[in-house]
Formats: sequence, C-alpha cells, structure tokens
Amino acid sequence: MKPSNSEIVVSLCANGPLLVRGAAVIRDEAGKEHPVTRPVVAICRCGKTSRAPWCDGTHKLIRIANP
Ligand code: FES
Repeated sequence: MKPSNSEIVVSLCANGPLLVRGAAVIRDEAGKEHPVTRPVVAICRCGKTSRAPWCDGTHKLIRIANP
C-alpha cells in the first residue's frame, strides 16, 4: 500500500520494530518529541534498544539468546 502525501502508515515487523512511514515526529511515552528525518523509521517494540525510541537491531540478539 502506497501512502498519500499526508498519510502515515504503521507496519508491524514480526519479532521486530514498528515501521512508520510518513510521520514528522515520534512522541515517546514521556511526551518527548523525536523529529523524523527519514521517509521510514523503525520504532523499537522490544524495549532493549540503546537508541530509544529507534530500533537498533538488538531485538535480533534477543531472539538468538531466547529462541
Ligand atoms: S525492536 Fe529492534 S531493538 Fe527493539
């Protein structure tokens, strides 16, 4: 599905992040705003990233450690 210019599309990755396309800002649970500078950003869902709110790939290591 291709988004229109004003549409924000959120996709879930299996055992991974949320992919957000078309957003200008991501607001975290504390209300802090994180400007989006790319067309698509990956938001951590596992809670183990060192770059919150962005996914840094750590979810892949968790799967290896806990298959
Ligand atoms: S979902 Fe990728 S680091 Fe958490």
